[in-house]
Amino acid sequence: MVRAVNLRVVVTWSVAATLLVLVGLAMRHNNNQVEGNFLRTAARPLDALQRVPPEPLAEPRQQDVVEGNNNRVGSGKRCDSEKWVEGLPPLYIITPTYPRAEQVPELTRTGQTLMHVNNVVWIVSEDAAVATKAVVQYLNESILNTIYLRVQMPVKYKKVKNKPRGVANRMAGLNWIREHAKDGVLYFADDDNTYDIRIFQQMRWTRKVSMFPVGLVTKLGVSTPIVKEGKVVGFYDGWIAKRKFPVDMAGFAVNVQYLLERPLASMPYKVGYEEDGFMKSLGIKASEIEPLAFNCTKIWVWHTQTKKNEPAIPVNRTRATFGSNLDIISEQLWRGTGTNS
Ligand SMILES: *[C@@H]1O[C@H](CO)[C@@H](O)[C@H](O)[C@H]1NC(C)=O
Ligand SMILES: *[C@@H]1O[C@H](CO)[C@@H](O)[C@H](O)[C@H]1NC(C)=O
Ligand SMILES: *[C@@H]1O[C@H](CO)[C@@H](O)[C@H](O)[C@H]1NC(C)=O
Repeated sequence: MVRAVNLRVVVTWSVAATLLVLVGLAMRHNNNQVEGNFLRTAARPLDALQRVPPEPLAEPRQQDVVEGNNNRVGSGKRCDSEKWVEGLPPLYIITPTYPRAEQVPELTRTGQTLMHVNNVVWIVSEDAAVATKAVVQYLNESILNTIYLRVQMPVKYKKVKNKPRGVANRMAGLNWIREHAKDGVLYFADDDNTYDIRIFQQMRWTRKVSMFPVGLVTKLGVSTPIVKEGKVVGFYDGWIAKRKFPVDMAGFAVNVQYLLERPLASMPYKVGYEEDGFMKSLGIKASEIEPLAFNCTKIWVWHTQTKKNEPAIPVNRTRATFGSNLDIISEQLWRGTGTNS
């Protein structure tokens, strides 16, 4: 009896001691890798348990939030550190977005994926008449290098039934890259997709144009180049429509120098032909395309899509809610276009 109790005590203490040592080791390891920014957050134990990605982690740099289009506002937020992994080509991630109930949740998801990737410049380009306050605020608070741009679809396209959404803001992102970037790789990452961070780590080394499968596209469940013996020999896509490059927007990355050498490359305002038009304007040949994700055998990007949500019903200002957290929460609820929160 006594022995059993002692044994239990001993076992309990050794388990506790082992755990302490493990947590200590994990935290030390983690501290070696991550300094500064992550430590600002409260959740130390969780940080300690974070799996360390294969790339060395760097402190993300913060650039000014830039409001694009005609009025540029540099709302000067400086970074704590200028640490950047030297020799690692930057990734310019262009995320077109537009005001809707899911906007901030989707950007949160995309942004947190990008926090696992080094040397990222995240260009969030909003198609809106006025900047969405919640988005600018979210980007301003983010530890990522963020660039905020705002543009609007040209009026003539707004009148047509099938609107070429996302072109004006993707083009604004491209123009920003043309003005500010010298090297690295660009990628169009819609905020409603799911990304495995390994695709970012691979696309970083794109020499001209790289391509890879995108899951959950059409009834086929995937859109991908067809690869044989390491070469792109065709395309598997549920909607070929005489496109030379029947690929999804999330299925390719482009070397920045390669783009800069092609000043006329652009995206057409033509629904369904945006990717094809952009590829053609780059003048890439199918034989030059670099298949990623292990010769396109892995799906590392999915066109997830999110359920549409209705605008929120306004919070009742009653005695029960007045002077409570709901005063603040109510300002963050999406009320549909026209309002700006
Ligand atoms: C950005 O954050 C800084 C402080 O971190 C704040 O002073 C500034 O008003 C913020 N700007 C916007 C547009 O939210
Ligand atoms: C892709 O296929 C080619 C030809 O079979 C092969 O040499 C190459 O190693 C493959 N690449 C990867 C990353 O698996
Ligand atoms: C708000 O108040 C009105 C009037 O009292 C009531 O009819 C409505 O159900 C309330 N809405 C909510 C969301 O509580």
